[in-house]
Amino acid sequence: MLEVERAAYEFPWSRGNFVDSLHAGYAAWLLHDEHPGLAGYAIAMAGVDEVHLLNLTVAPPRQREGHARWMLEALVAWCRLKAAPMLWLEVRTSNARARTLYGRFGFREIGTRRAYYPAAQGRREDAVVMSLAIDLPAGPPAPRR
Ligand SMILES: CC(C)(COP(=O)(O)OP(=O)(O)OC[C@H]1O[C@@H](n2cnc3c(N)ncnc32)[C@H](O)[C@@H]1OP(=O)(O)O)[C@@H](O)C(=O)NCCC(=O)NCCS
Repeated sequence: MLEVERAAYEFPWSRGNFVDSLHAGYAAWLLHDEHPGLAGYAIAMAGVDEVHLLNLTVAPPRQREGHARWMLEALVAWCRLKAAPMLWLEVRTSNARARTLYGRFGFREIGTRRAYYPAAQGRREDAVVMSLAIDLPAGPPAPRR
């Protein structure tokens, strides 16, 4: 994961970020297919009534093959299992690829976090906050009082 992370990002997660996420009990998925090597991964945190997607990465040689969309579909299925009506994430304002992916998938931009990410020359970059409403299957009717 670290190898893919370092190839995919200018400011990658550290080994400690991954270790802390796993120790905290966040959910992590590794994507493998018939090709050798890791195709991608996702890390998410389930909260009350929401799932926060913390990391979604596809190995650079495997990008643009539909893997990110597939992982997002799997995450939506996981949100339904958790009965979470919202999936949300932060993305760099400059990350046009990811913003296009999320926008086409149905995410909406709901806010901005100022100076959220490190950037070149010691600067900081804003994050766009995006959310996706999850259709949950209708539950049993509320009991009558
Ligand atoms: C962003 C990222 C996850 C997309 O993964 P991917 O597997 O290449 O994406 P997919 O093949 O599933 O593409 C799905 C859609 O995303 C959009 N998209 C993906 N890559 C794109 C690109 N290079 N340019 C424009 N749109 C792009 C398109 O709408 C695409 O649909 P289309 O191919 O039918 O046009 C991948 O580029 C990546 O890992 N980037 C580095 C890490 C990163 O930025 N992660 C997101 C952090 S929030």
